[in-house]
Amino acid sequence: MKVGILISGRGSNMEALIRATALPDHPAKIVLVVANRADAGGLATAAAAGIATAVIDHRDHADRAAFEAAMDGALRAAGVELVCLAGFMRILGNDFVNSWRDRLVNIHPSLLPAFKGLHVHERALDAGVRISGCTVHYVRPEMDSGPIIAQAAVPVADNDTPDSLAARILAEEHRIYPAALRWIAEGRVSIYGERVRIRDSGCGDNRLLS
Ligand code: GAR
Repeated sequence: MKVGILISGRGSNMEALIRATALPDHPAKIVLVVANRADAGGLATAAAAGIATAVIDHRDHADRAAFEAAMDGALRAAGVELVCLAGFMRILGNDFVNSWRDRLVNIHPSLLPAFKGLHVHERALDAGVRISGCTVHYVRPEMDSGPIIAQAAVPVADNDTPDSLAARILAEEHRIYPAALRWIAEGRVSIYGERVRIRDSGCGDNRLLS
């Protein structure tokens, strides 16, 4: 399965996906990394791994439709079959999301549907939750929504700051995103309405990896 990754920054989740798919038996191959910013740190990481990269800057396009058409064209030209959002910080419009329906996944640093959007860790701490985590999900037009493929729970410590909580959650992101990608590429993931079923995921029926 040919995979394209969209990033906006550091790209540590992208790196986790690159490392996982480099294994010889892996059924997914990352063929393109697109960043919407030329200064995205992940671009150098991808290039060093021998993966084609492209910068498609939203500021170079007249509107969101033109920006997304350029990304769509690059992904399709590379033969991409699945798009992974990995710290991609632009909201995608309905046309793009619908045209990649069930072939577009995202990772978000909370236990969705809690704490959609930005400043997730600050809001989780402000809310006083004792558990947070991360979610890999198929993307639907409404922000940070869609059928959930994998989640990991992470305890919140009394002295956590947004940065310390983010770091603990990020380590789990690096574990569950490659796991979810493998399940998808092996054809083990089916979507039923809002719910996902995973054949032989090795984690029972609830997709909670902890
Ligand atoms: C990750 O924590 C990811 O979950 C989050 O941005 C970070 C990107 O880090 N994504 C979102 O908040 C999307 N709504 P990375 O560039 O090192 O992968």
